[in-house]
Amino acid sequence: MTTKGFLRPLTRRAMLSGTAGAATFIATSPLHSPAIAQNAPLKVGMMLPYTGTYAKLGQFIDDGFRLYVEQKGGKLGGRDIAFVQVDDESKPEAATDNMNRLVGREKADVVIGTVHSGVAMAMVKVARDTKTLLIIPNAGANDATGPACAPNIFRTSFSNWQSTYPMGKVMADAGIKNVVTITWRYTAGAEMIGAFAENFTKNGGKIVADLTVPFPEVEFQALITQIAQLKPDAVFSFFAGGGAVKFVKDYAAAGLNKTIPLYGAGFLTDGTIEAQGEAAKGIRTTLHYADNLDNPANLAFLKAFKAKTGKDGDIYAVQGYDGAALLDIGLTAVGGDFNARDKMIAAMGAAKIDSPRGPLSFNKAHNPIQNIYLREVRNGRNEMISVAQAAVDDPARGCKMT
Ligand code: PHB
Repeated sequence: MTTKGFLRPLTRRAMLSGTAGAATFIATSPLHSPAIAQNAPLKVGMMLPYTGTYAKLGQFIDDGFRLYVEQKGGKLGGRDIAFVQVDDESKPEAATDNMNRLVGREKADVVIGTVHSGVAMAMVKVARDTKTLLIIPNAGANDATGPACAPNIFRTSFSNWQSTYPMGKVMADAGIKNVVTITWRYTAGAEMIGAFAENFTKNGGKIVADLTVPFPEVEFQALITQIAQLKPDAVFSFFAGGGAVKFVKDYAAAGLNKTIPLYGAGFLTDGTIEAQGEAAKGIRTTLHYADNLDNPANLAFLKAFKAKTGKDGDIYAVQGYDGAALLDIGLTAVGGDFNARDKMIAAMGAAKIDSPRGPLSFNKAHNPIQNIYLREVRNGRNEMISVAQAAVDDPARGCKMT
């Protein structure tokens, strides 16, 4: 029997009203229970956004992770897997309590999370303090595999730097001279814009304005008017999830997609493309994935994901899937013995995964080394145009493990 444990989010409101202690928690059971278990199931805590602007992203990570576990008969490295999950709502202010609850009261052996960089950094702090194994399946906060890097912290997604740095050269090489940037005012936006600008200006480009709105606001009209007045050669942006859908639609509704080409981090159009429809046509982005990568791993993944969920897989699903693959590699190396920590972590660090995204390995800071693709929205898909930069390795500035 499959039972999903679901912790109600530990919000400030819930805490203040004293209801947090009474939060509904459904006991977990392994996905696959043999009649006589050799070992207790390994408890995986999923801390992801299941509501809010990043809800779909969290759900796809969750679906991707569970797909891999199902493909392995409910076991990783021979250990049954049990789940407990919490909705982090992409709220940094609730993150420490949510994470403490997973590793404390719920006794999660490993935590998978999350999407939002601010929430992830709070999780990183708890993981460092408690030595809990943490696999980050999205959030790009540079510091997580930089100054805050640790042996027990891995990332199967990207660093914010990594996802946009290559685009600086791509746009400069395309003859673009003046760019306006636009993003949400928080870690991910600042770091992705910063990395793009670093490479764009190095290659002769000029940033004429950096526009921001608070996360997760979606009132873009005033800034879109400003872009129209500034008339840059192009716009470079980071938005994701529900906010990205709204921004791309607003940009097209203002007619700017016809006069000022829109570029961005690939999150602008990944997992959002269907909802954006015609408005997304022609947008160019960089990301460690493209829908039409025709390697066998991607074809098999997309087919299996569709069969499980009825939906088209995207980068978030891939990152969740690879998170489970990484844990599988670690647990397999120790025959499912989670206490053999050093050996398990060494195996994870040395992992070479045949990912749907292409070859995936890890640097000493435990951040992925991977291709970054230039994509364009064509035929309602993020189609690869070229490899913008092969085997991109984050500099891991400030990490003492390098
Ligand atoms: C982040 O906060 O690091 C973040 C969120 C959503 C994305 C990418 C990065 O799609």
